[in-house]
Amino acid sequence: MYNPQLNAQGELIHLLTTEGLPRRILTQILDKAAEFVSGGELVNQKFADLAGTSVFNLFFENSTRTRTTFEIAAKRLSADVASLNIQASSTAKGETLLDTVHNIEAMGANLFVVRHSDSGAAHLIAKHVKPGVAVVNAGDGRHAHPTQAMLDMFTIRHYKGDFTKLRIAIVGDVLHSRVARSQIHALSTLGCPDIRVIAPKTLLPTGIEQLGVHVYHDMESGLKDVDVVAMLRLQNERMAGAYLPSSHEYFKVYGLTPEKLAYAKPDAIVLHPGPMNRGVEIDSAVADGDQAVILPQVTFGIAVRMAVLSIVAANQRELL
Ligand code: CP
Repeated sequence: MYNPQLNAQGELIHLLTTEGLPRRILTQILDKAAEFVSGGELVNQKFADLAGTSVFNLFFENSTRTRTTFEIAAKRLSADVASLNIQASSTAKGETLLDTVHNIEAMGANLFVVRHSDSGAAHLIAKHVKPGVAVVNAGDGRHAHPTQAMLDMFTIRHYKGDFTKLRIAIVGDVLHSRVARSQIHALSTLGCPDIRVIAPKTLLPTGIEQLGVHVYHDMESGLKDVDVVAMLRLQNERMAGAYLPSSHEYFKVYGLTPEKLAYAKPDAIVLHPGPMNRGVEIDSAVADGDQAVILPQVTFGIAVRMAVLSIVAANQRELL
């Protein structure tokens, strides 16, 4: 089936979503990222993979981790990097997304990293850029956040090894979460046999079971014997109506406390993509506790983004 992320040889030329990517590509990203990590830390070295490549960060939505780690990743690979300040750009004067992109292409862009509140924005750009220009989705609406999912996969593999032996629970606001969707597709392709989602009915999309996940509405049964607990932020900015009685009630039932974490395996790890709402979806005792790998996720995010940038840029160069 046609996949706009792959060239005729089946190699990655854009990263827009984890959905539909073969295991071979996901593993290629993880293995390439592993080259940039040693002893759980980022290798403190510059690489020449993107020498002569111009990378433009277009973040139409707020970001701390993704934007900064993409910038670090591109610089570590020796790219020329520019980050458009959207608030101070001509977008504020009504310039369309594609006009902005074409103008930046005219400045010599080879690679766009795009975050946008509209689902499908990165796909749209990928469809309209010149041959040889790559697009990496840094989060689009509720749709996808593929590099977040891949850094989560890297973290899980780093601490737990073989995906085919793991039980993983994704907890919280699945309905509004691009991270959850991208995690589910990646975990499923990597062979995870037991992917669970735990959430109130109001925060689950209808038909989520069709993605091959097991649905739970309570933490005790959902977390039982899991190896990985992947927490999600309550996405208040994407909630138009009343999905919950209150954040206090939500924390009582779904907030990850040490008591609830005890339902999981004793050596279970806890992930969170950030930003965290402490006291809403996660207790500080867990967020700052021994089982949390939330800060290593951020470090590994640089390695994974280096891997993605390096792979798509190399495959795009071959097209020219
Ligand atoms: N996880 C994540 O996407 O964080 P930012 O919004 O800070 O980039």
